[in-house]
Amino acid sequence: MDKNQNGLLPEVLDALSDPVIMVDGRKVVTFSNAAATSAWPSLINGVPISFTLRTPDLIDAIDRVLAGTLPMLKGAMSERLPVERFFEFQVVSLSSSGVATPRTAPAVVLVFRDLTESRRLEAMRVDFVANASHELRTPLASLLGFIETLQGPARGDLQAQTRFLDIMRAQGRRMARLIDDLLSLSRVEMSEHKRPIDTVDFGLLIRQVADTLRPVAEERRVAIHLDLPDAPVFVSGDRDELMRVAENLIENAIKYGHSGQRVELKLAIVSASRGRCDEAQFSVRDFGPGIPAEHLPRLTERFYRVDASASRETGGTGLGLAIVKHIVNRHRGRLTIESEQGTGSVFNVFLPVPDEE
Ligand SMILES: Nc1ncnc2c1ncn2[C@@H]1O[C@H](COP(=O)(O)OP(=O)(O)O)[C@@H](O)[C@H]1O
Ligand SMILES: [Mg+2]
Repeated sequence: MDKNQNGLLPEVLDALSDPVIMVDGRKVVTFSNAAATSAWPSLINGVPISFTLRTPDLIDAIDRVLAGTLPMLKGAMSERLPVERFFEFQVVSLSSSGVATPRTAPAVVLVFRDLTESRRLEAMRVDFVANASHELRTPLASLLGFIETLQGPARGDLQAQTRFLDIMRAQGRRMARLIDDLLSLSRVEMSEHKRPIDTVDFGLLIRQVADTLRPVAEERRVAIHLDLPDAPVFVSGDRDELMRVAENLIENAIKYGHSGQRVELKLAIVSASRGRCDEAQFSVRDFGPGIPAEHLPRLTERFYRVDASASRETGGTGLGLAIVKHIVNRHRGRLTIESEQGTGSVFNVFLPVPDEE
């Protein structure tokens, strides 16, 4: 857009939080504001919009507005990659005057509204109610049962009272853990489409988490071995969230793989394969019983456990890997799980390493 003709218009459009794109009569991008290039970094002036935005409904709406049948069209579109996003869009003609304009002049303006967050909140509320009520009902029923027993048959039975109160405290704690995990899961989900911006020394973070979990490991006679590079490995990330990733994976390896008596933590830089940037690979390996292959694809689902009673016995909620998965997604990373029965399991987290300046 010519600044002399339009004055401060580009600056004004950049100040908007909603993406705004202009295309000419050939559907070639002539302008995109800051919100648009941040949502779709591959938008470039002079390149057809369909190189970046392929949604048939959107392209169709542009065609119809360009054809002059309608001055404005509204629609909705969703994207699945790299994360699921929902937009509402408006396609508005800029040449309503009817005066013939060159095919390369801005002809149509596209205005988007990001509905991802509100959709996500809605879905999360539905999910939360269903999952949480199911998981909370068991300890709650047991709490109520013991309260009634204490008020009735066990009234005056001091020995029974002490025993029941212990169980009740354990059930209450279980409910509290569940609620904590559900809340952190929903917090991560809410921020999942926003990239974390801090820079974190991943090696140092892993060392710190390993140190805090050493007592847990010692209790189960598990030795933690570290294999970290000497130089810091910087990733862009959210420190608290990455600590939660390391905590959950190491804790699982200790809890479920304790029979292997050894947990190995390794951090390495793996160089770029075709079209990708370098990645930091964090591996947590245990030598426990491993996980039967049929469970692997579902392991990161909320509340999915291979052995629910084993998980509950150790205070598990079945939400740890779901939280890990969401955090890794938010960091535009990958989680892979390899396991062989009788040999053990490896959980790998790959995080993109920012280019060196
Ligand atoms: N290292 C591991 N070895 C064997 N099984 C594992 C391992 N890590 C996770 N699992 C299985 O995956 C399930 C889900 O893990 P997670 O989401 O952390 O929930 P939780 O630990 O609270 O049960 C666990 O209950 C367990 O069955
Ligand atoms: Mg766990």
